[in-house]
Amino acid sequence: MPIFYDAATRSFRLDAGNSSYVMRVDPHGFLLHLYYGAKISDSDLGYLALPFNTSSFCPNPPGDPFGNFSLDNQPLEYPAYGTGDFRTAAVAIRGRNGCISTALHYRSCEIRPGKYSLPGLPAVYTNSDDEAETLEIVLEDDLTGAEVHLLYGVFANTNVITRAVVIKNTGTAAFSIEKAASAALDFPTMDYDLIHLYGQWAQERRISRESLSHDIRVVSSLRGSSSHNHNPFAALVAHSADEDHGEAYGFSLIYSGNFAIETECDSLDSTRLVMGINATDFSWNLDPGESFATPEAVLVYSQDGIGEMSRTFHKLYRYNLCRGEWKEKKRPILVNNWEATYFAFDDDKLVAIAKDAAELGIEMLVMDDGWFGKRNDDHSSLGDWFVNEQKLKGGLKSLVDRVNALGVQFGIWFEPEMISADSDLIRSHPDWCLCAPGREMSIARTQYVLDMSRADVRDYLFDTISGILSQANIVYVKWDFNRNLTEAGSALLPASQQQEVFHRYVLGLCELLDRLTSAFPHVLFEGCSGGGGRFDPAMLYYSPQIWTSDDTDAIERCRIQYGTSMVYPASAISAHVSACPNHQTGRSTSFETRGNVAMAGAFGYELDLTKLTDEERALVRKQVAQYHAYYDTIQNGDLYRLVSPFENENFCAWEYVSADRKEALVTFVVPRCRVNFTSFVRMKGLDPNMRYQDVETGRIYFGNTLMNAGLNLTAHWKDGDSHIYCFRAVEN
Ligand code: DGJ
Repeated sequence: MPIFYDAATRSFRLDAGNSSYVMRVDPHGFLLHLYYGAKISDSDLGYLALPFNTSSFCPNPPGDPFGNFSLDNQPLEYPAYGTGDFRTAAVAIRGRNGCISTALHYRSCEIRPGKYSLPGLPAVYTNSDDEAETLEIVLEDDLTGAEVHLLYGVFANTNVITRAVVIKNTGTAAFSIEKAASAALDFPTMDYDLIHLYGQWAQERRISRESLSHDIRVVSSLRGSSSHNHNPFAALVAHSADEDHGEAYGFSLIYSGNFAIETECDSLDSTRLVMGINATDFSWNLDPGESFATPEAVLVYSQDGIGEMSRTFHKLYRYNLCRGEWKEKKRPILVNNWEATYFAFDDDKLVAIAKDAAELGIEMLVMDDGWFGKRNDDHSSLGDWFVNEQKLKGGLKSLVDRVNALGVQFGIWFEPEMISADSDLIRSHPDWCLCAPGREMSIARTQYVLDMSRADVRDYLFDTISGILSQANIVYVKWDFNRNLTEAGSALLPASQQQEVFHRYVLGLCELLDRLTSAFPHVLFEGCSGGGGRFDPAMLYYSPQIWTSDDTDAIERCRIQYGTSMVYPASAISAHVSACPNHQTGRSTSFETRGNVAMAGAFGYELDLTKLTDEERALVRKQVAQYHAYYDTIQNGDLYRLVSPFENENFCAWEYVSADRKEALVTFVVPRCRVNFTSFVRMKGLDPNMRYQDVETGRIYFGNTLMNAGLNLTAHWKDGDSHIYCFRAVEN
């Protein structure tokens, strides 16, 4: 089993796949973190702790009269604030005395089969108990009575360790949690690059990679959601690490709210990483007997480069995070009417699109924004989830029945967490908005944010959304969210608890999503936030696919999807063929390239099918057939990133290899051509001794030839060209 505890030395070794993670309780009772990396066989690594205090300025904890020990330079498993460790803390508790000083000593441990779960929060799960074990270590702060339960989920056959923390108040007085990270990690060196994903609306998840230096860096969000700007993910990788070689540590937080991933390199050249809920504007009151659970952190170790780290995340998130009927079910090819019509549609227009969808092999029509209240632009009606029968004459059921009669399924858009300044809902419930009493509310896209921490708000949303979903045969919901949170206060909470609102909002959102996904298990939920502003693992727990970006330009999408693939599997990356010239960039790209790029995700269309030329209709049919043919390899295979669009301005390439390594697909895109343009690409992940046939040319190569000598893709390419090369194994 993957967890070893040696009572004699009070050492813990967690063996997850080919990785090990080692801790030890030191003689003072502090829990030290001694190792994380490639698999090792020793459990007692006490020799790695620093043997003496490196600076007289660093105080010694009580009980260390000789001054040999300082928390400021030991590698600590869950560092506490205010008692001698001056680096970035994982936890800070304000006691009844008003002071924030926390000292955590080891109390006990327990090892159990299976993986822990977290109350009210999304988390990775096991499909059978023998997949993982749980370690629970209890630390205690004597003064406040805070019991800190460190939870570890250790996967036996994959390099994954999950962490979360539950804090219990076992004392007699309330205290407040000022910071409670999900995980902290100390590394003895700072020889790493930090990789993270940053961006903005329509430009999500660009890859940043920079060497660590002697400073504190924070990848974070204070926007109330994970955000377009920073994804709740970071990696520490060896300076020399590339896609296939070198150590890479990936850290992903299953949380869709304010988060922070902090890295600090200190004067001893060691590195600390702390990740969890953002401590800014956070404070949580905990009365005696109460508990607080942090979100879950997922740690992935790879000895074989960044690509292997990504593939580990892909499998984990596809099979151990996404849930429900749609988790592994083939997703329908859909057409969404947003870029086709925006708000200007009625039932007949939608039926006309559905009719073409049916003829072209597209399986679902999604009715986007504008079907409710009096919404004909983005100035009104969010919250008024009642069908606009002037637009949908005959009502929703009649429309859905007409679409279904064509053999096309039906999906619908909601933006549940929002309320328009012009809505019946705000007129009847002005107190349902997030607000800071006395301060005028900031407005974005003429909308405010509902206070999801309130049970009455969630009940209203559950009832109205359920009412709509029960009216007709609706099998898909797009759950949108189109602004950041400001003035995050709740009318129901006292002044002393307003700093709980950001987190209570997330808990409320999770509760509502849980209720709805349980009540409508047949419905496929797709997450969305102005494109990919909430593309995070927490949303994947409820919606197995997420709209990746409002930028549907195929060339821009190469980067966006490439960055997204750092953590998230193809099955999660919703990608559509849209109209030309592209509505966001004005760029003209061929229909083929738009299809080839969208093929790398949950595939669909986002244009007016009724306006296609015959030639384009033929291409849609071809793409639909291709999608079905390649589905298994792309959705269930392994991704290899071959040439990065962030590093090569002329061409980029990625490859999917089927689980049995009998099919490989190389997608090659030329965002920007140049004269005398040569392009060679080495394939990856093939069986070196198997022979593969290029299905187009018929030419046969050994796997080792394709992976070493590579492919010669030099041709008379033009800007925006692309191609998918398909190789299939043949009998030797
Ligand atoms: C933002 C989404 O990303 C779009 O796809 C579309 O649904 C609009 N909202 C509708 O308002």
